[in-house]
Amino acid sequence: MNRVDGKVALISGGARGLGGMSARKLAEAGAKVVITDLREDEAAVTLAAIKSAGGDAKFFKHDVADEAQWAAAVKFTTDTYGGLDVLLNNAGIGGSSRPLEELSLDGWRHLMSINLDGVFLGMKHAIPAMKARAHLWPGGCSIISISSIMGLVGGARQIAYCASKGGVRLMTKAAALELAPAKIRVNSIHPGFINTPLLRSGAEAMNNSAPGRGQRFLDDAVSRHPLGHLGEEQDIAHAVRFLASDDSAFITGTEIVVDGGYTAQ
Ligand SMILES: NC(=O)c1ccc[n+]([C@@H]2O[C@H](COP(=O)([O-])OP(=O)(O)OC[C@H]3O[C@@H](n4cnc5c(N)ncnc54)[C@H](O)[C@@H]3O)[C@@H](O)[C@H]2O)c1
Repeated sequence: MNRVDGKVALISGGARGLGGMSARKLAEAGAKVVITDLREDEAAVTLAAIKSAGGDAKFFKHDVADEAQWAAAVKFTTDTYGGLDVLLNNAGIGGSSRPLEELSLDGWRHLMSINLDGVFLGMKHAIPAMKARAHLWPGGCSIISISSIMGLVGGARQIAYCASKGGVRLMTKAAALELAPAKIRVNSIHPGFINTPLLRSGAEAMNNSAPGRGQRFLDDAVSRHPLGHLGEEQDIAHAVRFLASDDSAFITGTEIVVDGGYTAQ
């Protein structure tokens, strides 16, 4: 659990949800953490929780779709903490659940700019900083990208989200092969349905469009997980901490599925 002691981690979308909990778990285990996000208020709450638990973390305001802001986020991290060892590409948005023929090209491109471009740009800008540090750790440096079960199996009315998350899975493998000689490991995590603000706000929006629809969606989601419940944020944060640590030193180019059995069926 302490094998991230002294490592520097940058977490995109780290203000809340899976990124926020991962920031807390990494800081608890001794990492120095830079949280990047668009949401300053929620980042402040996460930062305060980390600091009151004795951890070390900073916030940098950042839109993952913007390349210049990625360069600035990595520079902030290396200026503040002297390097970068772990990148968690976590920022992401859910897709519209409208029928395919009603989706707009602008909506498709917006989702790709965050879920796919954001991951590509994160890797691109982290690599030079990581190359300078990978020799320091038995497990080298680690890039972890949050994909989804929807990057492994399809979901009706989720074509853009599935395309983006499937893309994250294969970008991960391509990058892992390219970066193995530099001792930079690259892996993806595939959560099932996890109880986060993203999921709750999605269900709320459904309730607003048709009363009870959001609850039916959540009940249906539970029934698809053989373990009989949705995941919690720490279920993913523990997998993140493992992939960030030297305990996973021989793991690269693969996926960790954390889905209560959803995709085993
Ligand atoms: N919650 C789930 O059930 C679930 C399941 C599978 C995968 N995921 C993935 O996990 C990741 C985190 O999701 P979550 O449930 O914690 O969501 P969330 O909405 O609770 O948190 C996501 C964070 O990303 C930030 N973000 C969004 N767009 C951004 C941008 N352009 N630049 C910077 N930050 C941005 C948000 O402000 C937010 O703080 C996402 O990639 C999501 O697709 C979630």
